Amino acid sequence: MHRGSKDDTSQPPPQEQELRDRVALVTGAARGIGLHIATRLAGSGCTVVLTDIDADGAARGAAAIAGTASALRMDVRDRAGTGHTVRRVLDAHGRIDILVNNAGVLAQGAFDQTDGAAWDDLVAVNLTGIYNCVQAVAPSMIAKGRGHILNLASVSAARAGGSVGNVWYGTTKAGVVAITQGLARELGPRGIRVNAIAPAVVDTDMMKPYLTEAVRGAISARIPLGRLAYKRDLGELAAWLASDRSEFITGQTIAVDGGLLCT
Ligand SMILES: NC(=O)c1ccc[n+]([C@@H]2O[C@H](COP(=O)([O-])OP(=O)(O)OC[C@H]3O[C@@H](n4cnc5c(N)ncnc54)[C@H](O)[C@@H]3O)[C@@H](O)[C@H]2O)c1
Repeated sequence: MHRGSKDDTSQPPPQEQELRDRVALVTGAARGIGLHIATRLAGSGCTVVLTDIDADGAARGAAAIAGTASALRMDVRDRAGTGHTVRRVLDAHGRIDILVNNAGVLAQGAFDQTDGAAWDDLVAVNLTGIYNCVQAVAPSMIAKGRGHILNLASVSAARAGGSVGNVWYGTTKAGVVAITQGLARELGPRGIRVNAIAPAVVDTDMMKPYLTEAVRGAISARIPLGRLAYKRDLGELAAWLASDRSEFITGQTIAVDGGLLCT
C-alpha cells in the first residue's frame, strides 16, 4: 500500500511533468475554475478527463488543452449516470488517481427569498454530487492503495455564508469542509488523501451576475491583499495538493482568499 515516502531522505520529484503517470477526473470542467484546474493538471503531464453537464463546453475545454485530455457528459446529481461515466473512464485509462469535485452551483438571497427548488439544487450539486462521485471513484483508488480527492469548498463555509443572503450556499460549503475532514479520516489508512480549496470571490460565470463594479470594489477593499482571487491562484494549489509534494497533507481546507477570513 502506498502511504507516502517511507523516510525523510527522499526528495520530491521535479515539478515539471510531475503528474505524468496520473489520471484526473474533474467535474464541472467546462468552464471557470474546473476548466482552469484541469488545464493546470494537464500542464504537469496529467491525463485529464473533463466532465460537465455541458457536454459541448467540456469538449471545447478538452480540445483547448495542450496535453492528454478528453471530455464526457456527467451530471453529478445523477448517481447511476455518474457511476456509468466513472466506469467508462476506468475502462479507458485503468485508473483515476485524482478526483476534483469542482461542480457547484450558487444561489444567493435572504433566507425567505430562496425557493425550495434552489435549495434542492444546492444540496443536489454541492453535496450529493460529491457523495455520488466519491462513491463511484473511491473503490478504484482503494484497490490501488493511493489517490487524492480535492473538493471545492468556499470561504462561505465559514460563519454559515458570512453575509446576509448566503446562508444556504454557505451551509452546503460547510458540508464540503465536513466531508473533507471525515473522508480524510476514513480514507487515509487506505492511502487516499482528501483536501479542499476554499476560494474567496473569483470572477467566473458563476459570480458574473453579482459582480458589478461597485461590488467588486467593495469586496477587494475588504481583502487584505486587495483583489479578487485569480483562477491561477487555485490552479497552483490544486497542482501542489495533487502531487506527492504535499504527501502528508490531508483533511485540510485551505483558503485562497488574500486574507479575507482574517478580517
Ligand atoms: N467563483 C467563485 O467566486 C467561487 C468561490 C468559492 C467557491 N467556488 C466554487 O468553485 C466551484 C467552481 O465554480 P465556478 O466559479 O468555476 O463556477 P461556474 O458556474 O463558472 O462553473 C461551474 C461548472 O459546473 C457545471 N455544473 C453545474 N451543475 C453541474 C452538475 N449537476 N453536474 C456537472 N456539472 C455541473 C457547470 O456547467 C459549469 O461548467 C464551485 O464548486 C463553486 O461553488 C467558486
